[in-house]
Parts: sequence; C-alpha cells; structure tokens
Amino acid sequence: MKKVIIINGSPRKNRNTRKMCESFAQGVIKAGAEAEIINLYDVDFKGCRSCFACKLKDGKNFGRCAYPDGLLPILDKISAADGLVVASPIYCSDVTGVTRCFIERLTFPFFEYKEGYPSIAPKRLKTAMIYTMNISETLSNQMYPDLYDKTEFMITTVFEKPVRIFAYDTYQFDDYDKYVVETFDKNKKLKHKDEQFPKDLQKAFEAGKNMIESISF
Ligand SMILES: Cc1cc2nc3c(=O)[nH]c(=O)nc-3n(C[C@H](O)[C@H](O)[C@H](O)COP(=O)(O)O)c2cc1C
Repeated sequence: MKKVIIINGSPRKNRNTRKMCESFAQGVIKAGAEAEIINLYDVDFKGCRSCFACKLKDGKNFGRCAYPDGLLPILDKISAADGLVVASPIYCSDVTGVTRCFIERLTFPFFEYKEGYPSIAPKRLKTAMIYTMNISETLSNQMYPDLYDKTEFMITTVFEKPVRIFAYDTYQFDDYDKYVVETFDKNKKLKHKDEQFPKDLQKAFEAGKNMIESISF
C-alpha cells in the first residue's frame, strides 16, 4: 500500500496546522493509501551537526543522515514512503525553527556536491507543503514574497516540487478576550474560522487525494 508521511511542524497537537494535516491524511486514506502524522515537537532532535558522514567517500552512510537521535527512524521512514507533507505555522515570518531543522536533516544528505547538485534520494517523492498563519493572503503576498520558494528550495532539489496549501487568518487563541490583542478583530477571526477554515481543510483533503491519484501504481 502507498504511504504518505505528514510532518506537523507546529507545537500544538490539535489546532490549525494539525487539523490541516488530518484533513490531508483523510484525503490520502480516501484514495486508498496509508497516512501517518508525526508531531515534530515530540521528536528529540536538532538540526544538521555538519558531521559530513553523508558526504564521506566510500562512507557506509553516504547519502543518508545517520546521526543517532530521535529523527533517524523518521528519516528512514520517509525514505521508504511514497509521499511527504511538511506542515508549519509561520513563526516570526518563517516556518518554525523545528521545521527548518527537520528540512536540513532531511534534504542535505540527498544531494551531491557535483555539477548540477544531483539528487541521490532513494525516491523522487511526491511532496506538499501546508502553511498556516495569522495574516491574510494579501498581507502574506506582500510580506513574504520569497518565503515559500526559499523554504521549498531544498525539497524541490531532492524530491518533486511541492504542492502548496495555505490557511490564512487562522484562529489563534481559544478565547481572544483573555489576551492582549488589538491588531486582530475577534469577530472577524471567528467568522473566518467558521466560513473559510472548513474550505481550507477541504483543500488539504483534495490535495491528499490528488497526491495518491498522481502516483502511478
Ligand atoms: C511565536 C509565534 C510567532 C508567530 N509569528 C507569526 C508571523 O510572523 N506571521 C503570521 O502570520 N503569524 C504568526 N504567528 C501565528 C501563527 O502562525 C498562526 O496562529 C498559526 O496558524 C498557528 O498554528 P497552530 O494553530 O497549528 O499552532 C505566530 C505565532 C507564534 C506562537
């Protein structure tokens, strides 16, 4: 059975990003494949340590990250999968730091320091990115014109170019009245959550279904 690994790069396990991951997973399952969601904040790991075992001539771990921490079994699972989804909230105008560390560890071993930087990933995986954020689509386009291309550059280098799914203007707090929030209107946020977020979830579902349907059996 085809399998998709979905990485939730949000620390919250039941909020916007995780819900988008679940919806994507439902689409994958609907199309007859298997999906596994991994909460990255549960995994004990750090970014690349620059050990270069993955680039060592005749090294037994050439082309593979072999650093022995909590991420290692997950990297091996991804290598054996058919699809990969990386989902992250936007934190301080970027994906979360933990998501960045994950992308480093995943992608750096899979390209060679050779002309054209060829990919030596075991498979050219189908990929998707899910981004969730507080700001609107218009503001995201103005404020982060290069962010998504830059985030995806290494993933595109070693795998297939990701499909992008966004949830803008997300509902951030359980109860807006409890926090100091002057820049966002509670009622507008609630309306967006009730009217737009279900459509964003549906887009994630369709993308999950499409990913499996696009994989030739
Ligand atoms: C530390 C931190 C920084 C954030 N920075 C941004 C930001 O730069 N731009 C933005 O649009 N939203 C920002 N947000 C809001 C989150 O991206 C947004 O609420 C997201 O949907 C949260 O995902 P979650 O519900 O899965 O945790 C930030 C949230 C936190 C906690």
